[in-house]
This record gives sequence, structure tokens and C-alpha cells, in this order.
Amino acid sequence: MNTKVITCMEDDDKGCLAEAGSIIRQGGLVAFPTETVYGLGGDALNPLSSKKIYEAKGRPSDNPLIVHICCFADIYRIVSDAPEHRQMLEAAGRLADAFWPGPLTMILPKADVVPFETTGGLSTVAVRFPSHRTAQALIAAAGGFVAAPSANTSGRPSPTLAKYVLEDMDGRIDMVIDGGEVGIGLESTIVDLTVEPAEILRPGYVSRDMLQEVLGRVETDKACSGEGEQAPRAPGMKYRHYAPKGDMTVVSGKKENVVEYINRQAELAKSEGKRSGVIATDETAAGYRADIVKSVGSRTDELSAARHLYTVLREFDEEGAEAIYSEAFEGDGIGEAVMNRLLKAAGYHMIQV
Ligand code: TXA
Ligand code: MG
Repeated sequence: MNTKVITCMEDDDKGCLAEAGSIIRQGGLVAFPTETVYGLGGDALNPLSSKKIYEAKGRPSDNPLIVHICCFADIYRIVSDAPEHRQMLEAAGRLADAFWPGPLTMILPKADVVPFETTGGLSTVAVRFPSHRTAQALIAAAGGFVAAPSANTSGRPSPTLAKYVLEDMDGRIDMVIDGGEVGIGLESTIVDLTVEPAEILRPGYVSRDMLQEVLGRVETDKACSGEGEQAPRAPGMKYRHYAPKGDMTVVSGKKENVVEYINRQAELAKSEGKRSGVIATDETAAGYRADIVKSVGSRTDELSAARHLYTVLREFDEEGAEAIYSEAFEGDGIGEAVMNRLLKAAGYHMIQV
């Protein structure tokens, strides 16, 4: 298959998306920019499209897809309106008022029209209304309901640039819409509204504090920080993910200790003939003596770490890093989301120094 690439920036005229929309309506696949990461879109209401998405990504088909919509009212077409579910929908309405369009995905009981192929066999559906104007225009052109996982091969970091989509998907999908670099760089926050209290299944830009301001108490799935015995409740979160090809370790502790420990490990790697890499911050980068040192930005700007993390992980692959060490991040907001992705990339391999 020949993958066509078109360019459509957020401010461009959206007429050029008619072809992309018709590809999706006819059962094809189009990758597109969102404010979080690039998505791989197909018709969410067509079971064959969802099957194609799983094939293109090499993704296990028990891992459900997020359905993207382009206006709040469309949620009523794809979620259950049974009386016992009304309260969940009411909570969804309040969250939507606060955070949609934007980087928040809500889990709700599904309506019959959503095929089990899209929800990985679950009776719930994940719904998101993205704020990216190109994404919105594409969803509208495609008929209103676009299933879209991140546009990477299963297990690799999510793409933040069209060139990374092509790296993974060239020849496997019909079209890529190049909209430049994404804004946030980490996938949306996922909140499950089918449980009481609501529960965060994947941390993202919309933090627990922000959700609690609207909903009252909100829990976070313990598996997000690698704690707890249970498998994560978002099926996709159980897979090794976002992972670079090299072995990765997250190192937590006082700044000086972290730098010293990583430098020692980098020397050790060198003596074994391995190429070492460090995920650093502006404050520490100059102090490292590894083969490759990449800063994700300043500690005072956690959004910068989110935006650069996946690019840095892909660059380590390009540059052949075999032993990768990362500084740790913390906090409630985007720092927590960065740490969650780092731990997953490292297969939860963390060292306290
Ligand atoms: O920011 C995003 O959310 C991006 C962009 C493209 O919108 N999409 C994205 O999709 O990250 P994906 O498929 O890579 O991640 C979806 C996650 C998976 O971990 C999946 O298991 C979980 O959402 N999920 C989807 N439906 C679910 C459901 N009904 N119940 C629990 N988890 C669900
Ligand atoms: Mg993904």
C-alpha cells in the first residue's frame, strides 16, 4: 500500500481533509495530529476498520480503542442512556464543560451501535473530544466517530511528529496528515466514570486535582505508579510500552546522588562495550559523562519534559543507545504523567539512590 502524506496545519483551510474523511468513511485508515499525540484513525462504528487498526499497529485485539468525537452532543449516540447510567452521563457533562475539547478521555457504558471490535470486547467505551482543529475537522469529515489509538507500532513511543508516524506506519495505512509537532506530547488522561468514585486509569495533562475540583473524590489506579498487585484497569496499560530498544532504568533520589550514580553506571556500560544514554534536565545535563546526554527541558517546566520525552526515546533508538538512565519526575500534574510513561518505558525498573 502506498501511504499518501498531506500537510494540514491547525490554521489551514480544512477543505483538504475531504479526501481523508472519505478514506475513513470507506473503511480506510488515516493518521492525524491531535493536541496530545498523533492518532491512527478509522471508522469507530465499522468493525472491519477497527480490525485494520489492530493489524496496522500489531496491537493485541483485547486492547480497546478510544472513540474521538467532534461535538459533545455526539456522545449520546455512542454511550448507554439506560436510567441506571444517567448519573455517569451527568458527571461526563460536567467534566466536558470543564475540559472538552481537550486531552481527557472518559470511560462510559457503551451503546449497542459501538462494535465490540472497537472496545476490545468490553461493554464500556472510551470517548474523547480533542481540541486540535485539524483533528476536529477530520472527525467531522469522516462521519463523526473516529476510533484512534496512538499512531505507533504497538510497544513503541507514541508519535509526536508525522515523521515518526511514517517510521512505523509507512505502507501500512492509506494516509498521514502532517500537522507539525503536537502540543502536549503525552496521551490524554483517562478517567473511568463507571466506578464510584471515578478512577484515573492513565495520568495525563488533566490532573487528579483538576478532576477533583469538578467531581469531588477521584482515585488513581495503583498500577499507574507500579504499585499494587493488580493488573492495570486500562487494558493497554499492562503492556510494556513507550519502550526504547535499549535497557532502561529510572533513577530517583537527591540530584547529586542521581548524577553520581548514573555516571558510574555509564562508565560500567562503557567497559562492557555498551553505548550509554541519559535522559537529563537542563539543570543537570552538563554534569553527565555518558555517550549520549539528552535534556527534556528545565525542571521548572514539566510541560517541556512531556513534550520532549517520546522524541528523546526515539532518538536513543536512532543513535543506538543500549543502556539508558533517566532522572525521575514527581508531582500531581503532568510530572506524574511523565513519571508513569518513564516507568512503563523502563518496565518499572527503578532505583532509589
Ligand atoms: O491522547 C490520546 O488519548 C491518544 C490520541 C490519539 O487521542 N490516543 C491514545 O489511544 O492514546 P491508545 O489506544 O494508544 O490508548 C488508549 C488507552 C489504552 O490503554 C486502552 O487500554 C484504554 O485507553 N482504553 C480504551 N478503552 C477503554 C475502556 N473501555 N476501558 C478501559 N480502558 C480503555
Ligand atoms: Mg498508545
